Amino acid sequence: MCGIVGYIGSRNAYPILIKGLKRLEYRGYDSAGIALQNGSVNVYKKQGKVTELEEHMMGMDLSGTMGIGHTRWATHGEPSDLNAHPHVSNNGDFTIIHNGIIENYTVLRTSLIEQGYKFKSETDTEVLANLIEYIYRSQKVSAEDAVHLALSKVVGAYGLVILCNQENDKIIAARKSSPLVIGLGENEYFLASDATPIIEYTDRVIYLDNDDVAVIKRDELILKSTKRNDALKPRIQTLDLGISEIEKNGYDHFMLKEIFEQPRSIRDTFRGRLNLEKNEIKLGGLYNVHDKLIHAKRIIILACGTSWHAGLVGEYLFEDLARVQVEVDYASEFRYRNPLISEEDIVIAISQSGETADTLAAIQLAKEKGATVLGICNVVGSSISRETHAGVYTHAGPEIGVASTKAFTAQVTVLTMMAMIIARSRGLVGNERFAGLLNELEDIPEKIDKILQQNDKLKEIASIYKNVNNALYLGRGVSYPVALEGALKLKEISYIHAEGYPAAEMKHGPIALIDENMPVVVIATKDSSYEKIVSNVQEVKARNGIVIAVVTEGDDTIEKMADHVIEIPATDPVLVSLLSSVPLQLIAYHIAVMRECNVDQPRNLAKSVTVE
Ligand code: G6P
Repeated sequence: MCGIVGYIGSRNAYPILIKGLKRLEYRGYDSAGIALQNGSVNVYKKQGKVTELEEHMMGMDLSGTMGIGHTRWATHGEPSDLNAHPHVSNNGDFTIIHNGIIENYTVLRTSLIEQGYKFKSETDTEVLANLIEYIYRSQKVSAEDAVHLALSKVVGAYGLVILCNQENDKIIAARKSSPLVIGLGENEYFLASDATPIIEYTDRVIYLDNDDVAVIKRDELILKSTKRNDALKPRIQTLDLGISEIEKNGYDHFMLKEIFEQPRSIRDTFRGRLNLEKNEIKLGGLYNVHDKLIHAKRIIILACGTSWHAGLVGEYLFEDLARVQVEVDYASEFRYRNPLISEEDIVIAISQSGETADTLAAIQLAKEKGATVLGICNVVGSSISRETHAGVYTHAGPEIGVASTKAFTAQVTVLTMMAMIIARSRGLVGNERFAGLLNELEDIPEKIDKILQQNDKLKEIASIYKNVNNALYLGRGVSYPVALEGALKLKEISYIHAEGYPAAEMKHGPIALIDENMPVVVIATKDSSYEKIVSNVQEVKARNGIVIAVVTEGDDTIEKMADHVIEIPATDPVLVSLLSSVPLQLIAYHIAVMRECNVDQPRNLAKSVTVE
């Protein structure tokens, strides 16, 4: 969702800001804007893409060695030039950009209108800009104090970056529940909502904590909290991120790059954690909770979107291998359901971005009820990784394509390792079975490589079905979440309606849709329910349906029935989702490209959903 970038130093700010906004495009947005401070503040904003803003700014005054930029994903008010950020207060004292939502903005707006303030936009952000100005003028305090006082009246979430016209040697930044990171250069600072716009300039960063307010001058950074008045000592961290990780490196799209990265990203997920010689798995982030984990009576997995699908795979893994009762819930449902949670429960929150608002709120609720909360996150230092008691990073590297691919397989890899650890500690998996699984897990990247070699064939299948209106995805057991994920991939990037279903449930509804036009993608790999899924394939064929089957290499039964078979290498049934999800990603990708859809930034979607 919304993205933030900022710069203060001696270079021209504009090129840094515009490039930063382009780096943030992947988060999803509908308008963009920039403010440059050069004696006075010049604000430029446009509905549409960053390139449209860039064109709009051509020939304008682009000077200034400090400035801020924003990509907006509409929440309060439609996408428009007026609603785009930055927003300027009535008398021009403050120019601000904001991620998050000010929940009590209506009350604040009404009281500011009573004080004579006028509003040009429908946004909560403009309310905040005017509130700061009102306090600044009426109480005759410094810009920093005005910000602190204004934030004490605000209910909601914010990542906030502020310019003050009268105090034009500084940028003020504040955070509550919406991330902000500051990059440190030589007498210059970079600001952003995630590290992607910063890494080409510096690898030294400070992640703001909740309630932090930073006052940043060219040669000084002072960090305070809205809770206390004394200065805090900033914790400088080194970014473990290379520029090539956030560029396309010759691929047409980030999504394709990320699909092809999976052999590498999965290896990175288990690097230093699998030890074949010692026949063990170590997850350092879980040491402190190991005992709780192995004695857990119940595990509750919370997530949204693709991460929720990974959670469903986790349910099968934990129940099958570790014999723990598991519930998987959408974070958004869990938080509003008065759920039953006890201190003996382990909650696992799964999130690629580590910033998803519903997942964060669900974590808070679980913590309040006394549960031990673990995180599985991809983004290091993200809010969820900080809010949880313990956790495991997926280390898949930055995922830029909005449709999640490598993050999903990395999440499943972590869940597999966790399930194996619990299973062994509970004495449910002996050394031999453990070693077998470990070897199979180690071989997964190589097997994915083999699947990726079938890219041309998958493209050909995609070309046959690129114009369909509907598609059905079926799977059983651990392949059911794979069906859900395959359908989601197609739906989100190609705008074809697709549904994932447990194969046996087909008879209770979707079978009515089957005809000679709708492809049915069946995940029919060899496992204990193979015979059942063969029957489901027959049921589809008996109704003149089209079957695209994902099968285990060498399967000649389904080959005779299906219209297309996609072979994947044999593996332990417990691990099969790591393989079977890959061809479905590629089919969705190719169909979307052939339909000329914006694969990396599908309409209306956001990478990091920071509002509920
Ligand atoms: C958005 C993204 C999805 C993602 C979901 C959950 O909808 O477009 O790709 O699966 O959010 O995000 P998270 O970062 O929590 O995994």
